[in-house]
Amino acid sequence: MKVSMILSLAGLSLIDAKPISLRSAEGKRGLAYNNGKLTDLFQAGKVSWMYNWGSGTDAANTNLEYVPMLHSNRAEHTSKWNEDAGNAIKKGSKHIFSFNEPDQCNGGGACMQDVGATVEAHKQWVQPFAGKDDVKIGAPAVTNGVLSTNNTKMGLPYLKDFLNGCSGCQIDFVNAHWYDKASNFEYFQKHLQDVHDQTQKPVWVTEFGVTNGDEEGFLTKAIPWLDQQTWIERYAYQWLAAGSMANDEETALSSLGNIYATA
Ligand SMILES: *[C@@H]1O[C@H](CO)[C@@H](O)[C@H](O)[C@H]1NC(C)=O
Repeated sequence: MKVSMILSLAGLSLIDAKPISLRSAEGKRGLAYNNGKLTDLFQAGKVSWMYNWGSGTDAANTNLEYVPMLHSNRAEHTSKWNEDAGNAIKKGSKHIFSFNEPDQCNGGGACMQDVGATVEAHKQWVQPFAGKDDVKIGAPAVTNGVLSTNNTKMGLPYLKDFLNGCSGCQIDFVNAHWYDKASNFEYFQKHLQDVHDQTQKPVWVTEFGVTNGDEEGFLTKAIPWLDQQTWIERYAYQWLAAGSMANDEETALSSLGNIYATA
């Protein structure tokens, strides 16, 4: 599919009057994307940051803060990490992400089920950025699972083992993902509250979404709640792509995307 148009502003009447740099500094809302062209669909609206599960970006919208991630400890990612993260910081990134879902092996999970090895890899690649340019460092992003079929810890139990093991690491915030039915909104709230209570760190929700049910209704309820919790620093809905927050032609926001841009 070809991206031939940028966002029609018709659906976006709620642009606030502040310059983008100010809105960016105070905003919690971000984009999770693979195709950087689509970030242009959010030139207006309430998003302020973005990430793509990697350390390099082709984002068309350069007004958003890009947060580089070291996806896993595999060489394809570590080989370019130092240069990529350094470049991102030079261009204004104020935060970096550690591994993506090391607690799980399916789909996009980094599959690093041995927490001790994850701690060592974090110390080798991510911790060295501590104290440089005041960059803030996240803990590895974990799922909302509990135990894998390999009998390894997942989710919050995995995260707690990581934090206990990573002595001397600068961890400024933790990074949690959540998926379940749209109707389980209370579980969404309780899970994130548990992550905060049990880690005593600010929380970034860098993926959340529904496995079935009323997605627009869920997002409409989730946004004000996420905005109101002072311990939630940032969040990104899953995700900016065709069939989700972009339309099928990738030429405009979907109605879900419009909720995310303006709510
Ligand atoms: C179990 O662990 C092995 C080795 O790390 C991995 O390849 C596999 O995908 C894991 N399975 C699950 C369901 O986590």
